[in-house]
Amino acid sequence: MLRALLLENLHPDATEILTAAGIEVINHGGAMDEDELIEALQGVQILGIRSKTHVTARVVANAPDLIAVGAFCIGTNQIDLEAAADRGVAVFNAPFSNTRSVVEIAIADIISLTRRQSEFDKSMHDGVWNKSAVGAHEVRGRTLGIIGYGNIGTQLSVLAESLGMSVVFYDTAEKLALGNARRMSSLDELLQTADVVTLHVDGRPGNAGFFGTRELDRMKRGAILLNLSRGFVVDVEGLRDRIQSGHISGAAIDVFPTEPKKRGDTFESPLRGLSNVILTPHTGGSTEEAQEAIGNFVANKLRDYLSTGSTTLSVNLPNLALEKTTGVRRVAHLHRNTPGVLAAVNSTLSAHDTNIEGQLLATRGGLGYVVTDIGADVSPVMVDALRAMDQTVRLRVMD
Ligand SMILES: NC(=O)c1ccc[n+]([C@@H]2O[C@H](COP(=O)([O-])OP(=O)(O)OC[C@H]3O[C@@H](n4cnc5c(N)ncnc54)[C@H](O)[C@@H]3O)[C@@H](O)[C@H]2O)c1
Repeated sequence: MLRALLLENLHPDATEILTAAGIEVINHGGAMDEDELIEALQGVQILGIRSKTHVTARVVANAPDLIAVGAFCIGTNQIDLEAAADRGVAVFNAPFSNTRSVVEIAIADIISLTRRQSEFDKSMHDGVWNKSAVGAHEVRGRTLGIIGYGNIGTQLSVLAESLGMSVVFYDTAEKLALGNARRMSSLDELLQTADVVTLHVDGRPGNAGFFGTRELDRMKRGAILLNLSRGFVVDVEGLRDRIQSGHISGAAIDVFPTEPKKRGDTFESPLRGLSNVILTPHTGGSTEEAQEAIGNFVANKLRDYLSTGSTTLSVNLPNLALEKTTGVRRVAHLHRNTPGVLAAVNSTLSAHDTNIEGQLLATRGGLGYVVTDIGADVSPVMVDALRAMDQTVRLRVMD
């Protein structure tokens, strides 16, 4: 029986999905350090983690039974993806299970800042009745500038338009404009147009310091800035100065250059105490709905990989979308991507009188993944021959 070790309090749906697939599930509340993890992974084929458990090259090298790792979150920085791929360990994550949660909080931030809600709220809690319409606006008719028109940016575009906002966007990649959204040909054009600028770029290293003093200065006077993407994208000292000078009239920041490690830790930032600034502890994507969606998404990916060999959306192996088929046995061969491997696999199959019913190949960098359906029984000698090939990283046979 296959075994899964699930750490860091994953959503119960993950256990349910894997158990229903006939996998024995062991749950452990917290994260584990390297040595603990190596010990716990003996005899375990599937590991489920969130962001606190580090799956290092040493862990992968010392977990000979491990087949797949599920990161029940968005980021995969905590996993040595290359080391995992080198050992044929598939890694899956949940790239868009919390997209909607981020979009909803962005909408809430946009309306709150445009109405100066946090200032009114603070005055009221301080015991001051500060009724005024000055500087408070409807969002209807105002222009939202979305930087990074990906999963989050595009969904925000649709919801913002339904609120009556006019949407412009800037993305370094070619993107289809949804609804009436208009693509800006440059970042500067967007900054000169938008009343609210919101950042949804990805975490590629080149985006460190992407939104600095130059970009802040090019925003319209009185505009609002949101950053729910990555902490290293915005120059927070520069932002503080421009909020204090009144050039920027409000900001909502959910991600920070350095973030405290755990709940209850002290939070330090130049943005603390500023007027009309909403600060949230990286909770843009943190909702119970998102947790449930992540639990389902990743557990299904792990289950499918085990039963069909499907690597759709794996972050480190070549991607092949595979369905469950009946009446065939499936041989999944992950190998070093060198010329002639496919021919060698097929000549081994043919040397053992094996008829190929179907075959798919995908490659990714230095790895190739060929999945072959065969009608007959799988000869153990043939399996040994495939396994013995120099290029073989991992071979799995599935019913
Ligand atoms: N606050 C949270 O809790 C939370 C939750 C989920 C995601 N995120 C973050 O939100 C961001 C967006 O997530 P997503 O799922 O939409 O990502 P995505 O990969 O779908 O989209 C990112 C888009 O940004 C574009 N882009 C990258 N660099 C750019 C640049 N310098 N200028 C213009 N466009 C650029 C890309 O071409 C892409 O279209 C990521 O950084 C992610 O880590 C935060």
